[in-house]
Amino acid sequence: MAKKIVVIPGDGIGGEITSSAVDVLKKIDEKFHIGLSYEYHDAGGTAYDKFGTPLPQTTIDAAKASDGVLFGAVGGNQWDQVEPELRPEKAILGLRKHLGLYANLRPVKVADTLVEYSPLKPEVVRGVDLVIVRELIGGIYFGDRCESEMHDGHERAWDLENYSIPEVVRIAKLAFETAKLRRGKVTSVDKSNVLATSRLWRRTVTRMAADYPEVELDHLYVDNCAMQLALRPTQFDVILTGNLFGDILSDEAAVLGGSIGMMPSASIGECTSLFEPIHGSAPDIAGMGIANPIGTILSAAMLLRYALKEEAAAQAVEKACDQALADGYRTPDLWKDGFTKVSTTKMTQAVIGRI
Ligand code: NAI
Ligand code: MG
Repeated sequence: MAKKIVVIPGDGIGGEITSSAVDVLKKIDEKFHIGLSYEYHDAGGTAYDKFGTPLPQTTIDAAKASDGVLFGAVGGNQWDQVEPELRPEKAILGLRKHLGLYANLRPVKVADTLVEYSPLKPEVVRGVDLVIVRELIGGIYFGDRCESEMHDGHERAWDLENYSIPEVVRIAKLAFETAKLRRGKVTSVDKSNVLATSRLWRRTVTRMAADYPEVELDHLYVDNCAMQLALRPTQFDVILTGNLFGDILSDEAAVLGGSIGMMPSASIGECTSLFEPIHGSAPDIAGMGIANPIGTILSAAMLLRYALKEEAAAQAVEKACDQALADGYRTPDLWKDGFTKVSTTKMTQAVIGRI
């Protein structure tokens, strides 16, 4: 059975980094005989220039019909004047909505070779290997809001947070299942000392834990979690949290490894899932052939793991990335004296050569 991957390069460095990831997937396919095929589609500013919209219907349809979407990045200054509804970044929100991408998975693994790039002390970050499971299409970002109203003689605004039990169950299930494949620990993060939504969240997650006896569950308030991520990040395996808290914590956790170019992500949908590096289109280095492709290559590894259930192939990609870094290859964003400075293409070849 052939597996169809829709590749959406997007803007800026998107083309360079997705091309690297596809080259790696092609090598993987030679070895693991998965039967991968690729279909390219536009999104972002590139799509706006061609079709007048950042997310053409053809891209949505193809993504829905695929086995997984590999996404580069969108955005760039040349589209700053475009009206808000047609801005490149709208493509991401549109794909989230159309594919029903309800969960965002962000692994943060600090390889021994990269410990020195972290802003935290080596002894704090060595061994960090966690994943944040964030609810992506509910909570306060999607609740009712009021931009302006008069109340007791003063102008005010408000945003409404709400979560239903099925929404919590869906995301918590994913967190428990993810923990089963890892070290078996879920930390659910909320603010249940203050918020009603958090109390429903905690109640629901606690009830579900009975179905996962092999998984250890604990709870943290979000403010304490933010502190613990900087104090003792190795304590975490799977962090489960809502949309707002997850947005903030996942950016905090992303800096543990010290480099934005290295971080992958997966957005899980009911049918199709989407995989992309966490960074943007890096217009300042676009077209120069120096972008770090590792974040996108590791996103392709997540596609193999979560969309295609090809765990061995996913691990082969991850190991090859670790090995290339251990052997001293560095794109300019990470280069220091004593290492081998390489281009995007050379870095990609270093990874492919280690598969
Ligand atoms: P950015 O992540 O594109 O870049 C921030 C800095 O990190 C830049 O100096 C860039 O050169 C560097 N960088 C990022 N990825 C790199 C890589 N793979 N290798 C080496 N260096 C890398 O964030 P910025 O500058 O805030 O945004 C640029 C554009 O990207 C904006 O239009 C923004 O809206 C968009 N964006 C898109 C995202 C997406 O498509 N998912 C996510 C974040 C931003
Ligand atoms: Mg964010």
